[in-house]
Amino acid sequence: MTNPSLLILPGDGIGPEVMAEVRKIIDWFGARRGITFDVSEDLVGGCAYDKHGTPLHDDTMARAQEVDAVLLGAVGGPKYDSLDFSVKPERGLLRLRKEMDLFSNLRPAQCFDALADFSSLKKDVVAGLDIMIVRELTSGVYFGEPRGIFEEGNERVGINTQRYTESEIDRVARSAFDLAMKRGKKLCSMEKANVMESGILWREVVTEVGKDYPEVELSHMYADAGAMQLTRWPKQFDVIVTDNLFGDLLSDLAAMLTGSLGMLPSASLGAPMDNGRPKALYEPVHGSAPDIAGQGKANPCACILSFAMALRYSFDLGDEATRLEQAVNAVLGDGVRTADLLNEEGITPATTAEMGDAVLAA
Ligand code: NAI
Ligand code: MG
Repeated sequence: MTNPSLLILPGDGIGPEVMAEVRKIIDWFGARRGITFDVSEDLVGGCAYDKHGTPLHDDTMARAQEVDAVLLGAVGGPKYDSLDFSVKPERGLLRLRKEMDLFSNLRPAQCFDALADFSSLKKDVVAGLDIMIVRELTSGVYFGEPRGIFEEGNERVGINTQRYTESEIDRVARSAFDLAMKRGKKLCSMEKANVMESGILWREVVTEVGKDYPEVELSHMYADAGAMQLTRWPKQFDVIVTDNLFGDLLSDLAAMLTGSLGMLPSASLGAPMDNGRPKALYEPVHGSAPDIAGQGKANPCACILSFAMALRYSFDLGDEATRLEQAVNAVLGDGVRTADLLNEEGITPATTAEMGDAVLAA
């Protein structure tokens, strides 16, 4: 059997710093658990532009299509702000998402015990929270035509179009039901079928797909009510599936229930490959954090937890993923904190490497 393959793209700013901690964990898996990944590393974003004049080289793109999973750090930075739109660092990331056709974006909101006090909500509302938002990522109002700013009579009109085909809804719904089967077998679909035809179709197609998953308890909610319920009592949910626009808002809202940007992982999944596993890109939610880059201050947990998601969703190593998440939880429980997790003055924050080493030790 061949080793599972992983393409690592550290990118810019704090990307390489947080990825270095993941590399330690990957090495640990090889040395201590006999799980060896076939790892290749390459450039994406501004650093790729510096070397090749493009934020994503064709060879890197081709490699991303072959591997079992891609793990990305972050792209961008002030140095590249004046670049032409076509070669901006973000274009490298967008090209990966588009050409790998990653239509299903998984954003967990998970509350680590030691950070329950860190939330803006009451402790009992968030303690033990573990939900997953599945956002449709490649269609909807961010892509629909017609779009643009047009002249109409004596004024301008700005137009975007919410557009979903049945097959687009079907595939993201299946990915959410598959996920629900691996988790609590409970799925809530959110749209606004009360005022949007695309929402009516969304609800119909999700209901239809649900017939193939009789074990999953399916419910529907209007997305605005969903926003209220997410802040009132988020633990009522397990998996939520929603469109691109509502998912953008709801996943940011849900993520912040539990604390810092430095703790938030994500996965973007596509269609199954020949080996039955979905094409996959894992990355922290945060960006390249130029304000702290190069200072050893970045929290590596978001990137480490993104790797944990890869273990679970690309490599069928769910138990190892849970072990890694528990290690992060234990380290936080011991009081280890990078600067982003500290409200109080007078405590010396852990460095990126100290946090990574603590997770490794745990
Ligand atoms: P950002 O996420 O890079 O930073 C926002 C704030 O959170 C900063 O104060 C930063 O220091 C802090 N922060 C972020 N990650 C952290 C971590 N792991 N540990 C501790 N603190 C952390 O977002 P911002 O400032 O809006 O964008 C900076 C650059 O990153 C821009 O060039 C932007 O285009 C790019 N970006 C890239 C993304 C990606 O690669 N997926 C996503 C978002 C932004
Ligand atoms: Mg957003």
